[in-house]
Order: sequence, then structure tokens, then C-alpha cells
Amino acid sequence: MPGIALRPFTSDDVPAAAALLAARHQADRARLPLLSPKLEEAGPWAEILDGAARVASYAFAATRAGRLVAFLLADQQNFAPGTLMAQWTPPHSLSTGYQDHAIDAGEDPTEVLRLLYAEVAALAVRDGYFVHRVEIVAGDAALQEGWLNLGFGRYLSAATRDTGPVMIGDVPGVAVSTAGAEDIEVVMSLAHTLDLHHAASPMFWPIIREARPAARAFNLDALQGAGAPFFIANRDGKTAGMQTFLRPGFTPFVVPHDHDVYLFEGVVDPASRSAGVGTELLEHSMRWAREQGYQTCTLHFASANPSGAPFWLRHGFVPVTHTMERHVDERIAWANR
Ligand SMILES: CC(C)(COP(=O)(O)OP(=O)(O)OC[C@H]1O[C@@H](n2cnc3c(N)ncnc32)[C@H](O)[C@@H]1OP(=O)(O)O)[C@@H](O)C(=O)NCCC(=O)NCCS
Repeated sequence: MPGIALRPFTSDDVPAAAALLAARHQADRARLPLLSPKLEEAGPWAEILDGAARVASYAFAATRAGRLVAFLLADQQNFAPGTLMAQWTPPHSLSTGYQDHAIDAGEDPTEVLRLLYAEVAALAVRDGYFVHRVEIVAGDAALQEGWLNLGFGRYLSAATRDTGPVMIGDVPGVAVSTAGAEDIEVVMSLAHTLDLHHAASPMFWPIIREARPAARAFNLDALQGAGAPFFIANRDGKTAGMQTFLRPGFTPFVVPHDHDVYLFEGVVDPASRSAGVGTELLEHSMRWAREQGYQTCTLHFASANPSGAPFWLRHGFVPVTHTMERHVDERIAWANR
């Protein structure tokens, strides 16, 4: 069998690359039927890729006997410290979305990625990009193995549930209301509680002080807009937690957006945890979502979150994407020369 050859990815590769993405999506959808049926066709992927390939910082193709069998694009991420995205994205990092890579089903992802990623990573590290992230659709064990083999670990997961009921009956002493712009300080205080939780072990997500005004502006904008509600729970008359919603928010586009609502921040005050507040909030919000005609709800959680991850998974959320991360040892920039 002829070996794999590597070369830069060009716009001429878009149709074949889109076909690889469509074939992968068909397999993904066989595992996760809630994924978008439209993306089983190459057409929408070609449109997305056309734009992505034009702006990609690094783009390589793998061929076998002249045929495209895999490709990998990556984007430099350089968010200014005062932006909302700076809270979640390390400065000078590299990002590959699930639309930015695909491998022919007949190839071994571990073997192909070892070659393809070597090309991208060589240039990225040369340019000073040491944190590398890649998004994969959940449940593709062979693809995940290919990234694990390169030193990537799971960092963030997106998960989706239908908007069906969560439980029967109310939790005594807990009342849920819809927040308005006048509640911005309550929202920001609970958002900070969530940030403190994410900053703790084993997530260790830094709280970027410079991004706080942007987060405030973002939440205020959402509270003033007509998009989706922010729900606040009170327990025995005291603020106890919140679940905030956005449309379309950050729902990965493999999940159809038309009937989906995004759960942005979900948190319960430490003093009120494990008393049914989070469950009551979810019951309330899913009832609202059903009444609005939304069929699914999507959220992200830190994969390592010992509190949020099991809570959402036990309440019917099914992982749809995972973001994997590798942090290259920066000493390589000066050592061994
Ligand atoms: C995750 C979190 C939002 C859950 O909220 P919570 O109020 O603690 O959750 P609940 O009390 O409703 O549910 C926790 C458990 O208590 C049980 N429970 C206790 N009293 C209950 C009651 N009266 N009615 C229903 N369930 C009750 C639930 O069944 C649940 O059990 P389970 O986890 O085995 O299913 C909350 O723990 C939290 O803020 N964690 C830190 C921040 C975080 O991780 N947020 C998510 C970010 S993605």
C-alpha cells in the first residue's frame, strides 16, 4: 500500500475534505441521533470549510496515492485580555474545531494524526503557540485515541438533553423567578461563585480579572435582550442559585440550533448545594423551554468538574463534543539548542 504524503491544504481540497466530514458525521449521527441530519451531506461542510480554510493559520492535507485521506486546520487565538473570550481561551493558543479535521474511515487515526499534527505543531511551536486545543465529536473512540496518543487530554465537554421533565413535584422552600437588568449584581455574584468553583482543584481554571467588565456587559446585554431568560432561585427567601440561558449561545453547530436553547451558567450557592435547588432550577427551565417550543438544551461543563459534570449527566445530558488540550512544555523554546 502506498504511504501517506503530506502537503499544505488548499482550497482545491475543500470538496474532498467536505466529503470526509460528511462521512464522519454520518457515523457520529449513528451514535448520536440528535445531531443535525443536514450535515450528513457534504454541501454545508464545503461552505463552512471554504471560509475556515481561507483564514486558517496552519492547514495541512494527508494523501494516499494522490487521494485526500485526512486534513487538519488550526487557528491562532489571540483574544485581548479584556474580552469575554479571554476568560476561557489561553492567550497565544491554537484552536482546531471539529470542522477543521477529518480522517477517512479506512485510515488509522493514530497513524495519520501523528504525521499530520507534527506538521501543524512544528509551525505553531516555532511561532510561540504552546497550548493546543482540538474539538472532537463525542464517542469516536478511535479518533480520541489518536489525540490521546499525541498528549491531548479532555478539557471541556458539550452535552445536550431533550427538554422533557426533570422531576415531579416542587422542592419545598425553593422559588424560581426570572431575572431582569436590575438583578445584574446578583447574577455577577453567582457568576463569581461559579468562577471560584472552576478555579479550584481539579479544574484550576484561572479567573481573568481583566475579563470581568466584559462578562458584566455580556450578562447585562443578555438580561436586557429578548433572547432567553436568566432564572434565579431563592431558598427560604435568600438567593440560592441561577441558571442562565442564551440563544443560540455556544451550542456546537453539529446540534441543530433551530429548537435548541443554551444553558450558559448554572450554579448554586455552596450553602444551598445538595438540597434540590439545582434540580428545581432545571425543572423550571426545562418547563419554560418546552412551553417556548424548544426541543433540546445544550451546555458546556469542565470535563473534570466533580460537581457539575455528574449533576448534568445524571439529569439526562448526553456528551456531544469534547475539547481536548495539549500544553507543550515551553522550555522547548530555549532548551536543546
Ligand atoms: C452542580 C450544581 C449546580 C447542582 O446544584 P445542587 O443544588 O447542588 O443540586 P441538587 O441538590 O438539586 O442535586 C444534587 C443531589 O441532591 C439530591 N437532592 C437533594 N435534595 C433534593 C430534593 N429536595 N429534591 C430533589 N433532589 C434533591 C438530588 O437528587 C441530587 O442527587 P444526584 O446528584 O444523585 O442526582 C451545584 O452543585 C453547583 O453549583 N456546583 C458547583 C458549580 C458547578 O459545577 N456548576 C456547573 C457548571 S457546568
